[in-house]
Amino acid sequence: MKIFIDTANIEEIKEISSWGILQGVTTNPSLLAKEGVKIQDVITQICDLVDGPISAEVISMNSEDMVMEARQLAKMHKNVVIKIPMCEEGLKAVNCLSSEGIRTNVTLIFSVHQAMLAAAAGADFVSPFVGRLDDIGSDGIQIIKDMAEVFRIYEIKTQIIGASIRNLTHVLDCAKAGAHIATIPYKVIKQMVNHPLTDVGIDKFLQDYNKSK
Ligand code: E4P
Repeated sequence: MKIFIDTANIEEIKEISSWGILQGVTTNPSLLAKEGVKIQDVITQICDLVDGPISAEVISMNSEDMVMEARQLAKMHKNVVIKIPMCEEGLKAVNCLSSEGIRTNVTLIFSVHQAMLAAAAGADFVSPFVGRLDDIGSDGIQIIKDMAEVFRIYEIKTQIIGASIRNLTHVLDCAKAGAHIATIPYKVIKQMVNHPLTDVGIDKFLQDYNKSK
């Protein structure tokens, strides 16, 4: 499973990408608002930091405007992937963009049915929101398992991005469920590095080395 970061914070992207483990970035209007920036202001900087799919979301609500917005964003860098919200107009936009060779990531996916439609329209990626499903008492990971099974049976090439990841358990469960990618917040990627026994082990090795000098 590939690891993407879910943020619009340049410092976070810089730090995690310096580890050499990052294969893509997802942003959304809320993450951009948190940083007080617009996607057009940061997209080139992000693309310079990470060589992989960089999702930039449209904010229009009709397909013609979505397509126009998407074309502008796609022009900015070859790695830009257009994030389109799951809705009827969104499906039309995905279909049109796919015929133009512009890659899309259909976001706000909460069911396998939605993912099947997005894939049929030509989406390159679908983003099921695990955490938000768990929040309402549904099983977000089960949706990913079912989606991965259906995509496997029908050899659907659309890649599943486990999104709305809140904790380490979500990351592991996405991997086991067959998500191709997990887009993970900075804080959770940092938690993936650590284990108390690793810290104890490093301390002990250093102490023993110093004793033997
Ligand atoms: C996905 O691409 C979204 O940006 C994101 O994962 C949403 O997560 P949230 O539910 O924590 O807002």
